[in-house]
Amino acid sequence: MARIGSFLILLSLTYALTLCICDNASNFGGNKRNLFPDFYRSSCPRAEEIVRSVVAKAFERETRMAASLMRLHFHDCFVQGCDGSLLLDTSGSIVTEKNSNPNSRSARGFEVVDEIKAALENECPNTVSCADALTLAARDSSVLTGGPSWTVPLGRRDSATASRAKPNKDLPEPDNLFDTIFLRFSNEGLNLTDLVALSGSHTIGFSRCTSFRQRLYNQSGSGSPDTTLEKSYAAILRQRCPRSGGDQNLSELDINSAGRFDNSYFKNLIENMGLLNSDQVLFSSNEQSRELVKKYAEDQEEFFEQFAESMIKMGKISPLTGSSGEIRKKCRKINNS
Ligand code: HEM
Ligand SMILES: *[C@@H]1O[C@H](CO)[C@@H](O)[C@H](O)[C@H]1NC(C)=O
Ligand SMILES: *[C@@H]1O[C@H](CO)[C@@H](O)[C@H](O)[C@H]1NC(C)=O
Ligand SMILES: *[C@@H]1O[C@H](CO)[C@@H](O)[C@H](O)[C@H]1NC(C)=O
Ligand SMILES: *[C@@H]1O[C@H](CO)[C@@H](O)[C@H](O)[C@H]1NC(C)=O
Repeated sequence: MARIGSFLILLSLTYALTLCICDNASNFGGNKRNLFPDFYRSSCPRAEEIVRSVVAKAFERETRMAASLMRLHFHDCFVQGCDGSLLLDTSGSIVTEKNSNPNSRSARGFEVVDEIKAALENECPNTVSCADALTLAARDSSVLTGGPSWTVPLGRRDSATASRAKPNKDLPEPDNLFDTIFLRFSNEGLNLTDLVALSGSHTIGFSRCTSFRQRLYNQSGSGSPDTTLEKSYAAILRQRCPRSGGDQNLSELDINSAGRFDNSYFKNLIENMGLLNSDQVLFSSNEQSRELVKKYAEDQEEFFEQFAESMIKMGKISPLTGSSGEIRKKCRKINNS
């Protein structure tokens, strides 16, 4: 019996070792195959439960927090991979990503990430990475707002670096044209299906006036509003977002149900009622993308399934695994600083 047992252990060790060596060249820096759902099974069995409970409490205080946390995960993953780099504050050699264009005055939820991390450190110190905590929080945010659930592969480690410049280059911007947005997704290994499905997260949350003003008054310097924008919707938006001033005024990304994760975002696009230029171009600029928008507008189940799959895929962008990176004690600073 014992012999069979140790033989099996040896076999699985060999298997794991082979995986590690062979997977080397498969992506930039990270090792996706080292991510797996049971990663903390023995080291921190209650990790998922702890994250879920802190996110649920934050959601009770403010429903928008679900949207804000989901967005943080996206902004983390697109910039040097899902490594918690977004969470670092400026200190020592670190220049924070929080002041880059896509994050400044709009990325929010960092206090909740701190709370999650403190609860995790309390239960199992030096064990669960900030990058994993944020990935779990994004999944929990989907569930809390009525969206799909999925099993989260875990084992990401945290970066010891951040980049002030990369968010501006790597993240898509709201006024970008379709090709630029698609290119930025492609650069992260995500395809058109992922782009359309993941954009569906704009079924929850808000945007500041400054991120869509161009469409209301002067699209691409034309002197006129975006012609693809539905007229009565445009009139509502102009009231909340004047030609000048009110930069921080908020509007719902999904005017029908900003607090609910559903497929009405896609229905809006068909009605020319996407809030951001980057939303509407998914319907107006590309045939293949338009077909996907129609599909998800008709079939919420289809959208939910693809959203879950694409979120898992986004969560695997260049993770730090093995001995690279560290498990930060606090998400805002690297350990030796
Ligand atoms: C396709 C390219 C995308 C662009 C150009 C884009 C841009 C934006 C912008 C400009 C805002 C509003 C920020 C502000 O207040 O000014 C926003 C909000 C948001 N984004 Fe995106 N986004 C994109 C894709 C995604 C993806 C892939 C996700 C997640 C999977 C996501 C999740 C969110 C959420 C949940 C909010 C609301 C946040 C809140 O209310 O705090 N976005 N996005
Ligand atoms: C694994 O990657 C390292 C550094 O990126 C490289 O030096 C090494 O040759 C690679 N090993 C294999 C088996 O590909
Ligand atoms: C995108 O990738 C997924 C697998 O990750 C695949 O199922 C899907 O067909 C791809 N879509 C396109 C448009 O290539
Ligand atoms: C629109 O924008 C362009 C360039 O961005 C500018 O030259 C022009 O004056 C603007 N027009 C109006 C009506 O604001
Ligand atoms: C938006 O901002 C303008 C200018 O600051 C302000 O007058 C207006 O009341 C704001 N609108 C809303 C709906 O908050």
